[in-house]
Amino acid sequence: RTSTTLSDGTRIADLVRPDTREVELRTLSDPEIYELEMERIFGKTWLLLGHASEIPNSGDYVMRDMGNDSVIVARDREGQVHVSLNVCPHRGMRVCLADKGNTQVHKCIYHGWAFKPNGDFIGSPVAEEKMHGELLPKSELGLKKARVHVYAGLIFATWNIDGPSFDEFLGEMKWYYDMIFQRTACGWEVIGPPQRFIVDANWKAAGEQSAADGFHTLTLHRWLDEMFGNGGSELTSTMYGVEVGSEHGHALRCQSLSKKFERARDFDKGMMSIEERWNILPAPGCTPDMLSEVQRMLTPEQMEQLMTNPPQVGGIFPNVLLACIYAPQPDGRILGSMALHTYIPRGPDKLEFVNWVFAEKGTSEEDKQIMLKNTIFMLGTSGLVEQDDSDTWPHMTISARGAQGRRITMKYQAINKLPPPANWRGPAKAYDGFTKDDTQWNWWMYWRELMSTPA
Ligand code: FES
Ligand code: FE
Repeated sequence: RTSTTLSDGTRIADLVRPDTREVELRTLSDPEIYELEMERIFGKTWLLLGHASEIPNSGDYVMRDMGNDSVIVARDREGQVHVSLNVCPHRGMRVCLADKGNTQVHKCIYHGWAFKPNGDFIGSPVAEEKMHGELLPKSELGLKKARVHVYAGLIFATWNIDGPSFDEFLGEMKWYYDMIFQRTACGWEVIGPPQRFIVDANWKAAGEQSAADGFHTLTLHRWLDEMFGNGGSELTSTMYGVEVGSEHGHALRCQSLSKKFERARDFDKGMMSIEERWNILPAPGCTPDMLSEVQRMLTPEQMEQLMTNPPQVGGIFPNVLLACIYAPQPDGRILGSMALHTYIPRGPDKLEFVNWVFAEKGTSEEDKQIMLKNTIFMLGTSGLVEQDDSDTWPHMTISARGAQGRRITMKYQAINKLPPPANWRGPAKAYDGFTKDDTQWNWWMYWRELMSTPA
């Protein structure tokens, strides 16, 4: 497909209008746009598929998705992680039919062609009959392989074999993501299998929200601060912070925790040691004994930011959300945990919501279970927060189908005019003050760039 226009003559670039910062609502429902996204977004960018701790042993595999293609994520005998298209090159049957398992031979149930965990073709049944023929060498009969990058245990893959490296893709935002994902030597592990559920919504309704939409918290999640935050006091103050974003659409919302937790205020005022502060409020997924290790792993600038303005919620383009939640414990600690979501496109008006819960590997089993419970309580299938969000996405998608509604535009006109905070140490674009639309607008501009570029 080489076109830069849709079949009705609309220029794809005109769906996102930089002059007025508007996006046509039809982008959330149009089947033609959806098909194009599968090639130009999900066929090009790096996509999160899971975590290495889900497949710790040789032969372990999970079945995941890259856009509307099913893939096998498997570990080989040498410990390498591979991602292969889950489509049998014989007649197109799905080779893997289980969500997860362990095998050194992925055998297609239709005629029995067999493949290694790295996707290489092994052979077909009744070897002497050569049922795979002799027209093509065996090396050409394997599963199609994606390019893989394992970042801090997170498994990413892309079909863009010669495209930007993963580090180039993360760009300046890597400084912040390193602060989250590479802060202990052992690294993160996934607690339990991911939760999955279907939402009747276009994937972008969730995707663009993940680019650090802080504004909706004041209204849609208002109960959150009323119940767990300031106890019903003035909530607008919690909407201030720093949003960081890149031209690749990645974004994070960084906020001082002292707005939420009174006990953290003494640290921000310089009246509490880092050890005391960490003891009552360690970073999400961590426990009090990890402070010295985290200090060793991070630069002083990253450490300072983690303690004062840590990233709390945000995303990785195109369809990843990361979110931290904090829960006060009976023993006085405030235990934080972290979840990652991906929003798998399942058609123009359906997405599959996948929720992983993480803890640092060295965290005690007891704390891991508390983190798991808290995270599911807030961010899981029936989680209090995600019931709010996943209630809006289907309504937006329905609106985008209406004969009149599809002509409406989404507005991203709240522009941050403040300079970055004077003492901000991190790279990328930092937007200070009340949450605005800039990081989400960056998300849409990258979507526009990819969608306007023929494959
Ligand atoms: Fe897989 Fe025939 S389709 S072996
Ligand atoms: Fe939300």
